[in-house]
Amino acid sequence: MHKAVGSRIDWPAIREDFPILRERVNGHPLIYFDSAASSQKPTAVLDVVRNYYEHENANVHRGLHTLSARATEHYEKSRQRVAGFIGAKTADEIVFTRGTTESINLVAQAWGGRFLRKGDVILLTEMEHHSNLVPWQLLADKIGAELRFVPVRDDGTLELEKLSSLLTPEVKIFAFTHVSNSLGTINPAAELCAQARKIGAVTLIDAAQAIGHMPLNVQELGCEFLAFSGHKMCAPTGIGVLYGRSEILEATPPYHGGGEMIVSVTLEKSSFKKPPHRFEAGTPNIAGAIGLAAAIDYLEGIGREEIFKHDVDLAQYTLERMKNLPGLRVIGTAKEHAGVISFVMAAAHPHDLTTFADRYGLAMRGGHHCNQPLMRRFGVTGTTRASFYLYSTREEIDRMIDILQKANQFFK
Ligand SMILES: Cc1ncc(COP(=O)(O)O)c(C=O)c1O
Repeated sequence: MHKAVGSRIDWPAIREDFPILRERVNGHPLIYFDSAASSQKPTAVLDVVRNYYEHENANVHRGLHTLSARATEHYEKSRQRVAGFIGAKTADEIVFTRGTTESINLVAQAWGGRFLRKGDVILLTEMEHHSNLVPWQLLADKIGAELRFVPVRDDGTLELEKLSSLLTPEVKIFAFTHVSNSLGTINPAAELCAQARKIGAVTLIDAAQAIGHMPLNVQELGCEFLAFSGHKMCAPTGIGVLYGRSEILEATPPYHGGGEMIVSVTLEKSSFKKPPHRFEAGTPNIAGAIGLAAAIDYLEGIGREEIFKHDVDLAQYTLERMKNLPGLRVIGTAKEHAGVISFVMAAAHPHDLTTFADRYGLAMRGGHHCNQPLMRRFGVTGTTRASFYLYSTREEIDRMIDILQKANQFFK
């Protein structure tokens, strides 16, 4: 267990695990409120990656020498670690990818390309990140499928009462985000999968914003596919995961072609390995996978339930404090709310506000957050977004509120 004080987590001590939080930005202590874009990395992960390069670095699955065997063993152990973390039945259900975006493209192109036909419907929601929208647009264009969307209410929740009428027999896949990266809304993912299952539709959960922030189990969710990125959960960039239920991965053709994914090759034709190796052409991100397993160890040492409570507490505290800020509109006020708060300030464009905040060492994100259709739905071109993680504190939120007050004066 990590640094528990009595039965409680010592959150200030956790900050010490993240060397970057000691940085000063523009003469101020860094306040890193951009964790929804990418999280910071603890020493435990940095050390494991360094150790890999110092003592194990070699290509996997190829060499008959000791280092290659070490690298392969560590890489495959990381796959098992991921399987355990999300409750997959076997490590063969875990495909390493570059991240959520590549995982979703893999499903759209390989699975969708094989199993979807003209006239089929792909059901999405209005709150999808572009990476769970554009791959489906590309596929729909190619094969003549139709895209359909679950609308979003003014508070940032999905219009779930419309779901049964949207889930017609033509719907072959329902792909949705677990947690909205702009609104902070937590969708009832298990319930959405259950409804899709009733009509035999396959489900894909975009867990990019959920995975490192809350307990999550693919058996309990009942999804066929689940996608996430390591870099949003304390792991390095360039590593991600596609979970696919065994039967469905077995039936899915390769996505990329190349080394590592074949059984035999002639000049005319190739035969392919079983999943997950069929989907991992070329040299994988070995250090990334090993770093991801270290991040899982780190997060589990604290506990995902605890991290979730911490995020929710910070979100509620922020919403409460923002009530007293004049000219500020929060976008996304769902009751089930993760540690992501989007807002617009009447006096300032989100880009200007975010640049102003940076002068005080406050890192937030300003813009459309890869959610252009959602921004249009709320009648804005963008928002400013503050997003929290296990190293964020109430004291930092107080400093953010002070900076926002200064901005209100500055821009009026
Ligand atoms: C909900 C959601 N889906 C997908 C992505 C894409 O993740 P990546 O860029 O790591 O592939 C993000 C990243 O911000 C996200 O927030």
